[in-house]
Amino acid sequence: MSGAAGPLRREGIAGGSDAISPADCLTITDLVRARSGIVLGADKAYLVESRLEQIVRNRRYRGLAELAARLRTDRNDELADEIVEAITTNETLFFRDGKPFEHLRLHLPILDNAHPPTRPLRIWSAAASSGQECYSIAITVLEAGLGARPVQILGTDISVEQINRARLGLYSDFEVQRGMPTQKLAKYFSRTDLGWQVVEPVRKLVEFRRWNLLDDTRPLGTFDLVFCRNVLIYFDIQTKRKVLDAIWTHLAPGGLLYLGGAETTFGVSDRFVPYSGAYQVYSAVPS
Ligand SMILES: C[S@@+](CC[C@H](N)C(=O)[O-])C[C@H]1O[C@@H](n2cnc3c(N)ncnc32)[C@H](O)[C@@H]1O
Repeated sequence: MSGAAGPLRREGIAGGSDAISPADCLTITDLVRARSGIVLGADKAYLVESRLEQIVRNRRYRGLAELAARLRTDRNDELADEIVEAITTNETLFFRDGKPFEHLRLHLPILDNAHPPTRPLRIWSAAASSGQECYSIAITVLEAGLGARPVQILGTDISVEQINRARLGLYSDFEVQRGMPTQKLAKYFSRTDLGWQVVEPVRKLVEFRRWNLLDDTRPLGTFDLVFCRNVLIYFDIQTKRKVLDAIWTHLAPGGLLYLGGAETTFGVSDRFVPYSGAYQVYSAVPS
């Protein structure tokens, strides 16, 4: 498929129809932005076409023009959810970028010493995708030797499909090869006919819930650490600010925020400052 919706006429998704029109593309990208915060520019027409192809086929629409027309005329939440689900980019891997997990490993004993032994440490992965980030956190927690200290890790994501996958904790050979060291694979996964499944002592540290970051997140409670990695990049500055300000309200005193490699709080929210030179780690400015 071509990289842009230009004047070239090409075979469309349902076999024979034209590529998506700018007006139809706008109907879809407006919906995605309103529902998820994800911004897709006009140059992303190819992405809209390729990711929505399956929906058009499953629903036996004549093409994306019909899908866009239905969005304009009906209020169809189910269709809207399917579209957002298909548009999200769920790319993730175990121990992504390495350094945040190295930082976590060193920081957990500090948190442990700072709180009474019965107080749970709470960690939130706010765009958890298929769970690799949460299980990487859980393994780091187990290896930090915190004894009987209760630890709760919450993984949330807008995608129901990804959250369901994350709950299963079942990964292919390819997925475990992406970031999971061999020794940890042997220790924390069991080989099943369906793939590599995360073992119970790791899984029981983690809970997954479907949650949209644009919604009210207050019911999720207070956290010592928040991982919000590789999701802000998809949002415009207002949405980034809204999400960062909401996360700030979730952080316990001394709480830390971990962002992705291409993300920053600079120029977005003044409620965070870099944490002592650590890679992509920010501390919440006290109120
Ligand atoms: C690229 S993945 C990042 C996964 C993981 N944090 C990492 O860094 O490897 C981005 C995730 O953000 C989720 N996402 C996008 N918009 C969201 C929103 N409004 N609320 C919650 N999750 C969202 C997507 O479904 C996707 O799983």
